[in-house]
Amino acid sequence: MSEARPGSGEHVLIAEDDPSAARVLRLLLEQAGYRVTIAPDGETALRILDEQGAPDLLLLDWMLPGVSGLEICHLARQRWDALTLPILMVTAKTDPESVYAAFDAGASDYVGKPFRGAELRARIDAHLRTRRLVEERARMEGHLRERDKLFTLGLLAGGVAHDLNNPLAVISAHAQLLLRSAADEESAGQLREIIGGVERCSRIVGDMLNFARRHPTERGPVDAADVARATLRMRERTLAGSGVEVQTELPAELPLAAGDWHQLQQVVLNVIVNAEQALHGRGGTLRVTMSEAAEPAHCVVVEIWNDGPPIPPDVLPHIFDPLFTTKAGDEGTGLGLFICRRIVREHGGWMDVRSDADGTAFVIRLPVYPEPSRT
Ligand SMILES: Nc1ncnc2c1ncn2[C@@H]1O[C@H](COP(=O)(O)OP(=O)(O)OP(=O)(O)O)[C@@H](O)[C@H]1O
Ligand SMILES: [Mg+2]
Repeated sequence: MSEARPGSGEHVLIAEDDPSAARVLRLLLEQAGYRVTIAPDGETALRILDEQGAPDLLLLDWMLPGVSGLEICHLARQRWDALTLPILMVTAKTDPESVYAAFDAGASDYVGKPFRGAELRARIDAHLRTRRLVEERARMEGHLRERDKLFTLGLLAGGVAHDLNNPLAVISAHAQLLLRSAADEESAGQLREIIGGVERCSRIVGDMLNFARRHPTERGPVDAADVARATLRMRERTLAGSGVEVQTELPAELPLAAGDWHQLQQVVLNVIVNAEQALHGRGGTLRVTMSEAAEPAHCVVVEIWNDGPPIPPDVLPHIFDPLFTTKAGDEGTGLGLFICRRIVREHGGWMDVRSDADGTAFVIRLPVYPEPSRT
């Protein structure tokens, strides 16, 4: 567990009406590396808390014009617990009754005036150190929960894959038999689609097993434009049926990417299906473009954009999390983007999203397949 330095930019809100005391406090805390805001009266302090939410620490003078420090302490404590917001009361009222009242109102600590700067700072450092440790523990617990989820997912994937392989093989074998004696071209076409669908299911099953077992990815030369075209072809009918116009810009002269064709198709397919779902029932445009970038490494860039409604800012940071979905019922498992990012990362590439009123774009960067050496 890392212990951050004291005062690493944490925000301290000080409610203090005496300008010279406020100046001393500001100087003391800014020198220690804290970010300081001074509220000269109780109303201002409450307004800042309302507008900006909890600071990292609240330092309250008891005697303030208007709303008193004790009242602010009480109100703030109703919104934030002591681990989220340490509150330090600074006051000349040092009689025992006042001290009890301060702790009763939810103060975390109490310093009498006149205070010694070094002591006040040491107390603030100590409270914020505890707060950092609590935050770090919560983060670690989050990671552990995620790891547990992944472990369960791995077991689940292994079990499901095993159970699916046999019925998939049966469907495929029967469809192939029927194809040989198909009555007309239309039924032959439908049977080929069944066989194609089953092949894809088998590959997904294989991918799930790969995912569970963490097999290394194969790195051959892959034409990402070819992957994009093949995937769009697969979704052609559904896209047209949903009134989605497909635009592509896939220049022929781009370098090949280094990767695994089927895994990359899985990435492109997931992103296209998400776009389809975002445009479902309203139509719109899906655009797949490719380019090349030299920085920070030579890579092929595939951008998949749609002009559906933007992803809300509170959802955006979570869309790559495992099992995160905003889709109802069995429409989504929330694994699509998680697996996509993992595949892209295993390819040595990276994947980002951008979403605003103009639409949503997923940007996939893949390392270029190295040119054969001329020596
Ligand atoms: N193009 C997009 N436009 C709007 N929201 C999107 C788009 N792509 C993804 N999202 C959001 O990201 C979430 C996570 O996507 P992800 O593909 O990981 O899971 P899912 O589509 O919900 O389920 P799954 O892909 O496992 O069937 C979606 O539920 C959706 O809220
Ligand atoms: Mg999805």
